This record gives sequence, C-alpha cells and structure tokens, in this order.
Amino acid sequence: MSFRKDFVWGGATASYQVEGAAYEDGKGLNIWDVFCKDGGHTYENHTGDVACDQYHRYKEDVALMKEMGLGAYRFSLSWARILPEGTGKVNPKGLAYYDNLINALLDKGIEPYITLYHWDLPYELHKRGGWLNPESPKWFYEYAKVVAEHFSDRVTNFFTLNEPQCTVGLGYQTGEHAPGLRVGAADYFRIWHNVLMAHGRAAEALREFSVRDVKIGMAPCGALYMPATDAPEDIEAARKATFGLMNPTIGDCSWDVALCCDPVYLGQYPEDILTQFGQFFPKVTPEEMALISRPLDFYGQNIYNAVTVKADENGNPVRVKRRAGFPQTAMSWPVTPECLYWAPKFLYERYRKPFFVTENGMASHDWIGLDGKVHDSSRVDFMHRYLRELRRAAEDGVDVRGYFAWSVMDNFEWAYGYSERFGMVYVDYETQERTLKDSAYFYRDVIAVNGENL
Ligand code: NOJ
Repeated sequence: MSFRKDFVWGGATASYQVEGAAYEDGKGLNIWDVFCKDGGHTYENHTGDVACDQYHRYKEDVALMKEMGLGAYRFSLSWARILPEGTGKVNPKGLAYYDNLINALLDKGIEPYITLYHWDLPYELHKRGGWLNPESPKWFYEYAKVVAEHFSDRVTNFFTLNEPQCTVGLGYQTGEHAPGLRVGAADYFRIWHNVLMAHGRAAEALREFSVRDVKIGMAPCGALYMPATDAPEDIEAARKATFGLMNPTIGDCSWDVALCCDPVYLGQYPEDILTQFGQFFPKVTPEEMALISRPLDFYGQNIYNAVTVKADENGNPVRVKRRAGFPQTAMSWPVTPECLYWAPKFLYERYRKPFFVTENGMASHDWIGLDGKVHDSSRVDFMHRYLRELRRAAEDGVDVRGYFAWSVMDNFEWAYGYSERFGMVYVDYETQERTLKDSAYFYRDVIAVNGENL
C-alpha cells in the first residue's frame, strides 16, 4: 500500500502572509497591521502591507498552482476583511474577494481548504480585550456563521484555528507575535480556554449554518518527539514526551500538544498540566468542555521537525544530543524527516481521526540563478525525505488523507519579515514576479504519480 488513491496533495498560505491590500476595499485593521507599524517587532520593520499582493494577483497564483498540479489550496480568511470591526457589519468587497479566489480555484479543479483564523485578529476586537475577553468565542461564532452561510455552497473543508499555540504562546506569553503582550499565568490559561471555546463555537456555527455537510478540523503545531531507536521503551518515551511536559514551565505549556488537543479530541485538559498549574486555570464547566470537544472530522497537524529522545532507567524521556554538523534549514531548524512518520503515528494512535499534514516545509536562502531558474536543491531533498516517511506512516496503518506543503510561495514570515523564504514559488518582492523553483517541479512530478516515485 502507498498513498490513498484520493490522497490530497496541497499547498498552504495564510491571509496576512500573502494577500497585501491591507487598507483596501473596506478591510478593517488587524493586530498584525498595527504590530508591524510599531517598529522593532519584525526584521527591518517589514510589514504585510503588500506581501505577495495575492489580493490583486490571485488569478496568476491559481494558474501557478495549476501548473504545479496542486489538488488543494489551504488558505486563511482575513477576519477583518470580512467583518472590519470583527462583529456586526459585513464588508461585501471582502466576501467578493474570497468568492473570486474560490471560484478561480474550483475552475481549475483545485479544492479550497479554508482556515478561519491564522493569527490576524481584527484590531477592534483587540481593543475589547482580544482573546482575553470571555466574549471572544461568541465573536468567532458570529464570524464563522458568516463564512458558513456564504461559502459552504462551494467549500467543503474547514480548519478553525491555525497553530493556536502561537496565538497564545507567542502573542500573549512571550510577546514575539502580535499583539505583543506578556500576560501572567492566570490570564494565559484563561486565553487558552477562550481560544479553545472559540474553536468549539466555530465548529458549531459551521455545522449549523452550512448549506451542506462540511468537514471540520484544526491545524495545531506543538513540540514533537521521536525515539532514538526502535526499542519499545524508547518509543514509549517519545510518546510520553509528545503528550506531556518535558519541563513544567508556562513557556513549555504552549508547545505541549496535549494542552491544545486533549480537550478538543478527548474532552479533558491533561492531568500533568492541571497538577502543575491548576490554581491558575479558570473554572471549567462540563458544558464548556462539551463545546470544546464537539466531534470533528479530521486531525490536522503542522509538522516541521522533532526532538529525538531515549528512555532513562525509569522509562522517562531524555533528549539525545544532535551530532555536530546536524542538517539544518536556513532558520536553523533541524532536518528530521522521521518526524513525518512518528508524529502522524503517535497523533493518530491517540486521537483516532483521519490525518492531514496541514503544513510542512523549510526555509532556504534561495535566489534566481544565472540561468534564470531557482535551484532549491535542499528543499527538493527535504520534501523527498519527509514524504517518504509520511508514506511509511500510511503503510503502517495511519489514515493519512493529505499533505499541504508550506508554502506555495515565498511570503511574509512573521517576525522574520521577508528574510526567510519557504515557498516552492520564488517571489521578487520589488516586481512581484513569480518564478517556479525546482521544488515546484519536483512536487508536480510527485503529485502526478501519487507519490509512487518517492
Ligand atoms: C507555521 C505557520 O502556520 C506559518 O504561518 C509559518 O509561516 C510557518 N509555520 C513557517 O514558520
């Protein structure tokens, strides 16, 4: 067995990272518009004001996706483009933009996968306390209702939140991301709880107001672990590390897969977090837990790398030091292809849902060569190695349904601005010219034979 016949070969982006048109056609401000303008938060004070200008160039981008043979495009909606104040008045031009994009995709046979929230909270909602406001799940419900009513006639697949870990951890705990706050422990867990309830409320709205059956999931991230050897005790140690805290600090909570995914898929906050930090948790009612854990259709995970661990004499995980010269990407992220075997396996065994890799890819310092082409050989090798491991997971019984490469094109890499390139399409930010990189052709060839050439 290899990849399923109907395996979804996709690519992903997010609104603030590619759209640009930050102040056009009635779009409201979001927290990233404001955060970038503060200065000092992003590489050379780069902003997403123009980004890849996909707002005006979506037709060209969809044509490139077609050339690559993509079967699906995962993109996020800008909440403030649709509801400029976050709630209340709907902006028809915002809806029209996404109508055009969706229609262009469908026209080329590319399935749209919508992410409702990829970090760009409407600024008006931030002024009301943002995710700390207990009303925030209600706001998200209202937004999801508009989306369901308007797009569900053509869109079947939805992700509620992208990497809530970064929303909470980087946005409110370390302050590296918008809105750049550093809240205390009690507010930190309150925000987690609100964000997870918002997820539940959005799932509710999508089911209630869609005009046909839709499929719903989430796209979290988190710290992932894999075993140093195939010895059962090392495998168990890696599993334990994946779903438990390695260090009992608030900072580590953000990256603990179980803090986000146990409530959503298993209906409970993890014991170890409650034991360590229970006194800072809001009071959680059974009704709230039922809301958070409303049944979903699939499990998505953004996966980039994993830490290797082995078991100590008590079966507890200990990190294995990486050898000197270990392969790494331009952002110094380790290259660990086996994570695309172990993470899907552990996550599937625990949460038992059809599985999507909702992001995977790498930053590389690409440029246009003398021959006019972009030879991103490291990315080609990266994708080749990682996809082989994903296939191994599928062969081993993980119900893998799809893979979304991050990213379709170079884009605004948050605090790193435009200094890091993750795309399979090269973007010249001065001319907005696009060039397919070698990896785009590699991926096209993989897609054409459903991964048989890996
Ligand atoms: C995670 C995020 O979802 C995406 O926005 C980001 O660009 C990539 N990973 C790479 O860091």
